[in-house]
Amino acid sequence: METDILSIQNVSKYFPGVRALSDIVLSIQKGEVHVLVGENGAGKSTLIKIICGIYSPDSGKMFLDGEPYTPRTTREAMDRGIRVVYQEFNLLSYLSIAENIFFDRLPRNGMLVDRKKLFRDAAETMRRVGLDADPWTPVELLGVAQMQLVEIAKALSSKCGVLILDEPTATLSPGEISRLFEIIETEKKQGLTVIYISHRLKEIYEIGDRITVLRNGELVGTKKTAEIDVPQIVSMMVGRQMDAEYPFMDSPTPADEPLLEVKGLRIASSPHEISFRLKKGEILGISGLVGSRRTETVRAIFGADKKLGGSVLLEGRQLDVASPKDAVREGICLLTEDRKSQGLVLDMSVEANISLAALNKFSRFGLIDKKAERGASERIAGELAVKTPSMIQLTRNLSGGNQQKVVLAKWILRDAKVLIFDEPTRGIDVGAKYEIYLLLWRLLAEGKGIMIVSSDLNELIGICHRIVVFSGGAVSGEVLRPDFEQERILKYAYRVSDEGGHAE
Ligand SMILES: Nc1ncnc2c1ncn2[C@@H]1O[C@H](COP(=O)(O)OP(=O)(O)OP(=O)(O)O)[C@@H](O)[C@H]1O
Ligand SMILES: [Mg+2]
Repeated sequence: METDILSIQNVSKYFPGVRALSDIVLSIQKGEVHVLVGENGAGKSTLIKIICGIYSPDSGKMFLDGEPYTPRTTREAMDRGIRVVYQEFNLLSYLSIAENIFFDRLPRNGMLVDRKKLFRDAAETMRRVGLDADPWTPVELLGVAQMQLVEIAKALSSKCGVLILDEPTATLSPGEISRLFEIIETEKKQGLTVIYISHRLKEIYEIGDRITVLRNGELVGTKKTAEIDVPQIVSMMVGRQMDAEYPFMDSPTPADEPLLEVKGLRIASSPHEISFRLKKGEILGISGLVGSRRTETVRAIFGADKKLGGSVLLEGRQLDVASPKDAVREGICLLTEDRKSQGLVLDMSVEANISLAALNKFSRFGLIDKKAERGASERIAGELAVKTPSMIQLTRNLSGGNQQKVVLAKWILRDAKVLIFDEPTRGIDVGAKYEIYLLLWRLLAEGKGIMIVSSDLNELIGICHRIVVFSGGAVSGEVLRPDFEQERILKYAYRVSDEGGHAE
């Protein structure tokens, strides 16, 4: 007989105007990988936060290892062996990887931190999760994928019976995802139980033993993964059938004129010159492994990082972009991959966040036309199906995926010629993604050009006209839609460049 490690009995949780969880009954078996899925705002993260002591349930009970379990703080949950890697990172960016992993229990040698032991222990844990870096590297220098691995290392480095992963693969590339799955398999054999939240339904079959679907705060059902297919999961999630994930047929054909030309661009972290073009009405995918300098390149185009050489032309005119402000004035927008630090003001309302970037659009003689602002924000929030009790709700209180939609709305509303999105649909559920793609195509029809950096290769293949592949800080290949094949793209992504070394 299987034994339950965690049993959740009739748990409910309410927020003002929101029923986040309603009467949830769920048992997690020891040593299983239990996948939790559901649309944005379904209640997944809330359930996790209850399990790890951040929220207490309004009603219901929990049992851990057969004992009553009522964690009042995350510390209490951790002491009982519950560890979480959150959707948003919790790292101290100015500290090193090693200090972050052992933050609350630095090895001591008398009064001082035992740096040798810290280094050794950190290196060992990092190896366990396949994080290839110097343990003294400050976390702020890492990309999101590496930060993710630091979080996992941190969780596994102490007592851990149940590891909860809230969308762990959202920004990992295929190689890293398989490595993560190997880590999970290995740890599972040692008796680890995993609760796994993901919006990537296909990977559930690689890793999950059972799956639970939440919808609107209710538990729709729990199934063995072997006994359910993707369309069934989707219809449980969204309550209707969905035929295609990527409605590419609706996409307009790009014009032949180049909109944006990047010529011999030099960035600080690569010895190579980077050149490519974006056409009017085109969605250009930027693919590559984590660390292949995709993000650095788009940041340089946007003026967020320094350009060391080369030029950027918009509609044939050479731009002089020294800061994001210049870029925005020229009509180039960048939606960054890290919404928390760069995209959103969490303590402002949904409405304010959306209209922030487009304020000049709503101001006349220096006065803000509140009505127009509200109308436009509401319309776009509706189109993206942002789940919120009202437009004046603080953005902080929205679910992860809905915060991401707010970031998107903010940039879409703005009059830009070139929209660059770094991981735009990270954490967004299948149904909402579909709406977003349709919206992107509408923007194309207005003559805009869109660049998408995404680590989800299926997504790039699904929605782009063309894909440029980066490796080791250089453009290593370009693939046109008729030739889109996962393998071909990956081959370019793994191509070793002459001077830059392997893209890692
Ligand atoms: N602190 C809070 N205050 C008010 N409402 C909240 C709070 N936390 C969550 N909610 C609401 O509860 C609902 C469930 O949110 P939750 O974060 O659990 O969703 P989720 O399933 O994790 O979604 P996602 O896939 O977008 O991460 C949402 O409607 C959200 O807006
Ligand atoms: Mg969530």
